[in-house]
Amino acid sequence: MIETTMAEFLAAHPGLKFTFFGGKGGVGKTVMAGALALALARSGKRTLLASTNPVHSLSGLLAQDVYGAQKPVQGVPNLWAYEIDTKETIARSKNEIREKIGWFLKYADIRTKADEFVESATMNPAFEESAMFENMIDLMFKDEYDAYVFDTAPTANARRLLGMSSVYSLWVNKMMQSREEAKTLKEKLSYSKQKEEKDPLMEYLITFRERMGHAKDLLTDPQKTAFFFVTLPEALPIAVIKRFIHWFHDFGIPVGGVVVNMRIDKEALAADAADFVKNRVAMQDQYMREIDDTFDGLLRAIVPLFDDEVRGVPSLSKTADLLLA
Ligand SMILES: Nc1ncnc2c1ncn2[C@@H]1O[C@H](COP(=O)(O)OP(=O)(O)O)[C@@H](O)[C@H]1O
Ligand SMILES: [Mg+2]
Repeated sequence: MIETTMAEFLAAHPGLKFTFFGGKGGVGKTVMAGALALALARSGKRTLLASTNPVHSLSGLLAQDVYGAQKPVQGVPNLWAYEIDTKETIARSKNEIREKIGWFLKYADIRTKADEFVESATMNPAFEESAMFENMIDLMFKDEYDAYVFDTAPTANARRLLGMSSVYSLWVNKMMQSREEAKTLKEKLSYSKQKEEKDPLMEYLITFRERMGHAKDLLTDPQKTAFFFVTLPEALPIAVIKRFIHWFHDFGIPVGGVVVNMRIDKEALAADAADFVKNRVAMQDQYMREIDDTFDGLLRAIVPLFDDEVRGVPSLSKTADLLLA
């Protein structure tokens, strides 16, 4: 049972600016992100649909090239789309890390090449995800649109960010304090007042702490931010979002609700439909009951299984109508 529809949720959150879609692979996150972005653009908001996903899909969804730059979507006023170039982001992050490790080695007076450290820091599979997360935060901070829709919620990163931000903050404060103490001691010991030295690592830490704080403020503001989860009426995708929603509650990240996708329309089913189709419908009925029990009050829309995949603006537009029905 849907208590508050997607349309009602949007009407109740006029200041909604950052939306994300999470869920298991293949459930329709990209499609729903596209459909919501299209609906927001239609309502008059300058909207950016962005993919931070290394596997590119927005160009496919829109049937037009939106790779590598923010491009206006042909056929939809107010809508821009952007598939972020992962290679470029990763190369840039690697350079930034190399620079910071260099500063640190210099500060600590360690005479070793930074390269070894850079390799081990960036070999981590989480590095790519972090680089994409940074990219997303950059877009959010630039503030050039009324609304942003991100295909694929950076679930692990959002969680890590919010879980770690108070720890980082403590750590950076401690670092700053000991550096200040070291500096005044140095000043006391020197006879002539020396010109103040630039401290890039310190400056970076301060900026980083501010960025984290700002990102946390935006991502935990229920008027501005909503994470939506997409599921199918099937066991695994339900289990995945159950876990996500749990984490998000724990960290105070606003959950906008749950969208059920690919529900088979029973009305359209012929009496002589094949048994495997009938069985599938019975299975979906059973999981719909589980969804009702588990996501009480969070269900926003039930989108039917279409005859064909969703591709191009007209078919996305039809999906948007159903998402907001
Ligand atoms: N309601 C639907 N009916 C039919 N096909 C759908 C529906 N929703 C999504 N699809 C198709 O399913 C595939 C996976 O959807 P996609 O949005 O790419 O999933 P995800 O981003 O979660 O991996 C795509 O080919 C898409 O066109
Ligand atoms: Mg996708």
